[in-house]
Amino acid sequence: MQAQSDISNAEDIVKGIGNTPLVRLNNLFNLKEVYAKIEWCNPSGSVKARPASWMLNEGEKQGNLVRDKTTVIEPTSGNTGVALSHFAKSLGYKIELAVPERMSDETKNILKTNGAKLLETEDDLCPRVGPGTDQAIALASALIKNHPGKYYSPDQYNNDANFRSHYYGTGPEIWKETNGEVGAFITGIGTGGTITGVGTYLKEKNSNIKIIAAEPQKNHNIQGLRNLDESEKPELLKRRIEVIDEKITVTDKESFDMIKKLSSAENLFAGPSTGSVLAALNKTINKLEGKIVLLFGDNAAKYKSIYSKFGVYEEKEFDKRLKESKNNCFTCTYSNTDPEDSCRIRQ
Ligand SMILES: Cc1ncc(COP(=O)(O)O)c(C=O)c1O
Repeated sequence: MQAQSDISNAEDIVKGIGNTPLVRLNNLFNLKEVYAKIEWCNPSGSVKARPASWMLNEGEKQGNLVRDKTTVIEPTSGNTGVALSHFAKSLGYKIELAVPERMSDETKNILKTNGAKLLETEDDLCPRVGPGTDQAIALASALIKNHPGKYYSPDQYNNDANFRSHYYGTGPEIWKETNGEVGAFITGIGTGGTITGVGTYLKEKNSNIKIIAAEPQKNHNIQGLRNLDESEKPELLKRRIEVIDEKITVTDKESFDMIKKLSSAENLFAGPSTGSVLAALNKTINKLEGKIVLLFGDNAAKYKSIYSKFGVYEEKEFDKRLKESKNNCFTCTYSNTDPEDSCRIRQ
């Protein structure tokens, strides 16, 4: 990871992002080659380090984000806020985040520790887009309009830098790490940046690669993901939605059950969205060919209260699992992995 003193602008942060481990899941799926892209190894601990750093970098380059002048503002359900506040702190920007009050206390505490001012709303976990439906987005927009020149919003639902972070980062990494043998990619949808960025890149390489969206049920509790029947599609997703071959809907229970199976079988302790991705794989694995790559967006660390509330793990068991998973060399929360690390790909 980049030493704090080497960071003079967001471009330095972008350089420390990505090249996350690709890990084969030998125990959970032994008949097919299934790999997990472990995105919690990014600085700030999630896949959102990629778009957050790219959006800040492009904001600086375009002169919309200026040190000692601009405050960063964003509606976010969690990881984008964690990543933006983490990087804003390193770069010396003030930051305000419009967040759903239902978000986990652990996430709120991380945001506050990173110096963010929280503007809480009664929204669902993943802010809904579209007219009149979303308070977090409406609140951020109103503040920007009423204080001209004060704010810069990365605007993850519209900003193509979000797409580019995956098109130029995650997609090429997966292609290279699978030696071009990837047959399917499965991820969830929040803004659509991951699925359209990775999907567009992979389909340009080989149009037969299947791009699959894991979609949580309506009124779900999967932080960061969206059910497209109850929420309008973000602009970013609509721009390239044709890259998605299939959408697989999964219940909260199916997702949480897979979190437990993953922890027992692979000693990887993941956040809820990973459970949805694994549950979607279960429903489609028989028809997939080649190397199957799953996106693991974040780890369990922020979800103790959620897992306890939904009976996934009692607090004591959660602490034990978290501790055990830290002995696993792929559980590299809040640090960047060495690209030369010999245990990057487990055969
Ligand atoms: C924790 C988490 N948040 C959000 C997303 C969705 O990302 P995007 O906003 O790029 O659609 C994912 C993808 O699986 C995720 O794991």
